[in-house]
Amino acid sequence: MRLAPLARALALLPSLAGAGDLVGPGTCQACHPSAYEAWRASAHARALEALPERSRADRRCLACHAPSLDAGIAGVGCEECHGPGRRYAASYVMRDAELARAVGLQDPGARTCLACHTETTPSLEPFDYGRKVRLIAHGGERAAGAPATSPGPAAPAPARR
Ligand code: HEC
Ligand code: HEC
Ligand code: HEC
Ligand code: HEC
Repeated sequence: MRLAPLARALALLPSLAGAGDLVGPGTCQACHPSAYEAWRASAHARALEALPERSRADRRCLACHAPSLDAGIAGVGCEECHGPGRRYAASYVMRDAELARAVGLQDPGARTCLACHTETTPSLEPFDYGRKVRLIAHGGERAAGAPATSPGPAAPAPARR
């Protein structure tokens, strides 16, 4: 697939659709503590700091390294991939998968990533979704309030033998 030019890629970023509707990772953390910890430890949480100091106010760089800095969110926050949370982050909405999606929760996929992981970004190889999504694994937990079944965050499931 031919990757889109930067301008189109940026238009795909969910956050640009409703910057005023962002709640920030700290709000998600309250109910998704292990997803938050895994994210905190990931490159996305540090994407602003990854920029050389002189570029941390450069909009061309912030577009991917901290698209919602204006809303006080450093790095690539939860909502860059899951959609602005203002309307879905309420507990009663989150418990209703259909309603949550109706008010903005998005199901991130390869397209979400490719908006920033373009062929112009510094990487030694083309973006491989299946491999990269495992490197940011943070799902699989039950949110606070839901019955706890799974243990920790980031660790990919070990192969059964
Ligand atoms: C008030 C508690 C609460 C807050 C705040 C919250 N969530 Fe949730 N979330 C839940 C509950 C409860 C569920 C449903 C049970 C589960 O799957 O763990 C859920 C489910 C989800 C799911 C899975 C939905 C599905 O149907 O597959 C995602 C993704 C998610 N939340 C992301 C977020 C993000 C991103 C934020 C912050 C913008 C957030 N949540 C804030 C409680 C919350
Ligand atoms: C189109 C999105 C995009 C834009 C615009 C962008 N970057 Fe990046 N940048 C990325 C991605 C994605 C990575 C991670 C690539 C990888 O490791 O696979 C990255 C990685 C980096 C890294 C390496 C960080 C590390 O931890 O090794 C530096 C440094 C960097 N970018 C600087 C910049 C600067 C400076 C600008 C502005 C002139 C900029 N970037 C603009 C997406 C972007
Ligand atoms: C770079 C994009 C990205 C960021 C940033 C991100 N997520 Fe996710 N999230 C995903 C993807 C992709 C999946 C689905 C993973 C899979 O298919 O294995 C997911 C899955 C989840 C799930 C599990 C849904 C389920 O069905 O089990 C929850 C909960 C969640 N994310 C919450 C968060 C929270 C909270 C944050 C911030 C602290 C966050 N995410 C940051 C992309 C992201
Ligand atoms: C808003 C822009 C943006 C989106 C969307 C995004 N990323 Fe990133 N990603 C970045 C930037 C910028 C970096 C570099 C951060 C750093 O080096 O500190 C990065 C780094 C990474 C890294 C660590 C470097 C590497 O390649 O091993 C992984 C893994 C990653 N992203 C996976 C994903 C996945 C999977 C998705 C989609 C579910 C995604 N990203 C969506 C901007 C983004």
